[in-house]
Amino acid sequence: MANRVPVIAGNWKMNTDVESGLKLASDILRLTNDVSGVEKIVCPPFISITRIAEELSGSSIQVGAQNVSSSANGALTGEISATMLQGQVSHVIVGHSERRAQNNETSEQISLKAIAVAEARMTPILCTGEDLAIRQAGKASSFVSEQLEANLAGFTEWDSLIVAYEPVWAIGTGEAATSDQAQEMTAVCREVIRKLAPHAADSIRVLYGGSVNSGNVGELLSQPDIDGALVGGASLKADEFSKLIVAASSG
Ligand code: 13P
Repeated sequence: MANRVPVIAGNWKMNTDVESGLKLASDILRLTNDVSGVEKIVCPPFISITRIAEELSGSSIQVGAQNVSSSANGALTGEISATMLQGQVSHVIVGHSERRAQNNETSEQISLKAIAVAEARMTPILCTGEDLAIRQAGKASSFVSEQLEANLAGFTEWDSLIVAYEPVWAIGTGEAATSDQAQEMTAVCREVIRKLAPHAADSIRVLYGGSVNSGNVGELLSQPDIDGALVGGASLKADEFSKLIVAASSG
């Protein structure tokens, strides 16, 4: 984990309503507000963001969004722009594999989203990762390298970026990457950053995501290029998510 401050971010995906989301946020707060040496982020559905941001205001937990439009405003029914999120959230997930697959998001759109988020003074959490067929073909490294480079086209705000390596085959399957696999691929991500922005490569946090839980988080975080976790299922249980935060704080 080098000397970068670790990040534990929860991607709630399309789970929780406003009331249960508020309860989850306040339970996580109660269990972890005093835990230091780790950045804590929860990313609820859009509908809950305002209330949860109020609930967590002034606390050690930050709020993120799960998506953003690549456009500034206009006739885009159902979309939410970066400037609308400004002041509500500190981070925005972009390029999650579920959105790439289900919403046909292209690399070009994803790079525009990352730029829009950074221009609005928030931090993009840019996701990248290969699917099973690519891994089995032995092409995981070259795929992630090319995907991440394409997604960072035109990006300049290197002081404000988090990258998350999330292999599609490990998301929601209960089968996390091994710590060796995750280390190898987070190092690939860091090399891409080094190529694009040499001065930022050793400070940008690169997270691992995909079936992270309290049983595997310690070994994952002990790897030199893994600076934290982007967590789906386990972020919906306050006690389990809190264990990840505690593990990162002492890791
Ligand atoms: P799981 O932790 O449920 O595998 O989800 C990972 C993820 O997609 C986080 O963005």
